[in-house]
Amino acid sequence: MPKRIGIMTGGGDCACLNAAIHGVGKALLTSGGVQLIGIEDGFYGLLENSWRPLTHNHFNGLMREAGTILGTSNKSSPFNYHGENHLNDVLRNYHQLQLDAIVALGGDGTMSLCHELSQSGINFIGIPKTIDNDLAETDMSFGFDTAVSIVAESIERLRTTARSHHRVMIVETMGRNAGWIALYGGVAGDAEVILIPEILYQLDDIVDYLQARAQVHSHTLIVIAEGALPMGGEKVVAQMIENSPDPERLGGIGHVLQEQLTHRIDAEIRTTVLGHVQRGGPPSSFDRILANNMGCYGAELILAESYHRMVCLQRGQLQSIDLAEVAKKVRRVPSSHRTLLSAQATGIHFGVNDH
Ligand code: F6P
Repeated sequence: MPKRIGIMTGGGDCACLNAAIHGVGKALLTSGGVQLIGIEDGFYGLLENSWRPLTHNHFNGLMREAGTILGTSNKSSPFNYHGENHLNDVLRNYHQLQLDAIVALGGDGTMSLCHELSQSGINFIGIPKTIDNDLAETDMSFGFDTAVSIVAESIERLRTTARSHHRVMIVETMGRNAGWIALYGGVAGDAEVILIPEILYQLDDIVDYLQARAQVHSHTLIVIAEGALPMGGEKVVAQMIENSPDPERLGGIGHVLQEQLTHRIDAEIRTTVLGHVQRGGPPSSFDRILANNMGCYGAELILAESYHRMVCLQRGQLQSIDLAEVAKKVRRVPSSHRTLLSAQATGIHFGVNDH
């Protein structure tokens, strides 16, 4: 009997979900003896029995095509679907489809749901996707590198206007409650100030820095993570999303900072919120390779029936870890992280004078 394996993508899209689908799907089909079922739109597909068979033809061109051919959703938790627990629907559909296991490509919300659903007998393999890079137990998730390149390029483009108009330009990145995108994008893009949730900023210190810098330089680029917040202040929640495993949507702190700085410094300020631009467009080559490798490693786990594990990258090696170690955890930027230390050593201001 051939194994019947489902593939689904959960959470927000990113530039190389398709490259990971390519890796896992092609490796499983090439191994022989596997039938593939594409589950559509994340957990929706399992809740509403929405799926399609996948064959070799579906994987053509996927390495370079952003997004996910399967569709995704970040608001279809089976445990809180329109306010009710729909675990039974998911179990019924899983068994009716005669699946042996599901490969789930997703972030922390998806991995936590996979862990919870596996308690009811569903076999899962997780593959870590997120531009936020905040999944526990993996040094990197695919999607992050592409997002960082987009942030770095955006900073470079915005510097043109900053320089020409002698302005302070604020760039708000995504990343939820972790500062990885802002940190890496800010360093790569050569920003002067980087504000991340892990380091609470002091408005007075930023004002002092900008005033001192204005004596010598005509313009400044500030990168602020959507989850950044001032000492004693609150993060800015843009909206709450029903049915989502992580209902808070952040956004707007860039404009708040602009407002706070406006009457305190003698320069024009503009804010750009990069938003979903960070999730689209052609994946970087690094991300394509990482996603494809993680997909192929996931296929190996499926063939070995080594379920309830997530593929992870640790010290440069692909490995796997029990989903229980990943569920409901967030990986934030540690104060000892090399990239943060290098940024501080080279004079980037993190919103506080003493760090
Ligand atoms: O987790 C990925 C992410 O892009 C976050 O950085 C961001 O806060 C969130 O998703 C946005 O979600 P949505 O697509 O629902 O607006």
